[in-house]
Amino acid sequence: MAMIEIQSLNLSFGLDGSRVQVLKDVNFQVREGESFGLVGESGSGKTTVLRCLAGQYSHWEGELRINGERLGRTLDRDRCRRVQMVFQDPYGSLHPRHTVETALGEPLHIHGIGQHRERIGAILSKVGLNDSFRYRYPHQLSGGQRQRVAIARALILEPRILLLDEPTSALDVSVQAEILNLLADLRQREGLTYLMVTHDLGVVAHLCSRVAVMQHGKVLETLDTNDLVRGEASDPYTRMLISCSQHKSRDRDCA
Ligand SMILES: Nc1ncnc2c1ncn2[C@@H]1O[C@H](COP(=O)(O)OP(=O)(O)OP(=O)(O)O)[C@@H](O)[C@H]1O
Ligand SMILES: [Mg+2]
Repeated sequence: MAMIEIQSLNLSFGLDGSRVQVLKDVNFQVREGESFGLVGESGSGKTTVLRCLAGQYSHWEGELRINGERLGRTLDRDRCRRVQMVFQDPYGSLHPRHTVETALGEPLHIHGIGQHRERIGAILSKVGLNDSFRYRYPHQLSGGQRQRVAIARALILEPRILLLDEPTSALDVSVQAEILNLLADLRQREGLTYLMVTHDLGVVAHLCSRVAVMQHGKVLETLDTNDLVRGEASDPYTRMLISCSQHKSRDRDCA
């Protein structure tokens, strides 16, 4: 059963002469409980696909379905509860003058959900932070702790889908694996479905079962991670991505 279905998704920005088509007939599906990767060069449209699903744009064309239900162009409460996004830079997504408790309580408040204290305590523990963190401000957290709070905020409404936009690329290398492991655990324990943008094919290999490769607003191909790892991509651009990433990891090993 497909949890996310994207069919003939098209999106342009600008008017007339300056109009640029950013998504060109994008198609792919993510199964329930799957972790699906989205890779491709900078500006290829990866974040834009996530933003369409998260309801941040309303002028796309095509069809988007979540759990079989067709999405409208305006964001409704129901979609907020089912689909949440985690960004690359948790500094940008957390208000600097709000404590963790306020940040986590806000979505509950908006959606009229009670028992804030208990829910906040429970979600903090799920992301590996003890209860004392609820009184901290974002600047009093390490990068990894901040991203844990951002993940907690995304999960507090108990969504079924997380849209992850390079969730570890702003973090120190030593912390990246920690957050990736947390995400893998959470997906299993909570039965979540992930659509994850990343630049790192190592992250895809570690976390995703399938991946779509984007270039210039199009999906070039969708392939199983096993095939990606074995170098069995058919598109020349995908082959180049694989070869670059192999060089990179070799350089890293040599460093
Ligand atoms: N609000 C906007 N108005 C105009 N153009 C936009 C807007 N948002 C994105 N774009 C353009 O759409 C294209 C795709 O952007 P997008 O952010 O989806 O790329 P990306 O694949 O996520 O890149 P990166 O890997 O650098 O994050 C880019 O050329 C970008 O300049
Ligand atoms: Mg992006």
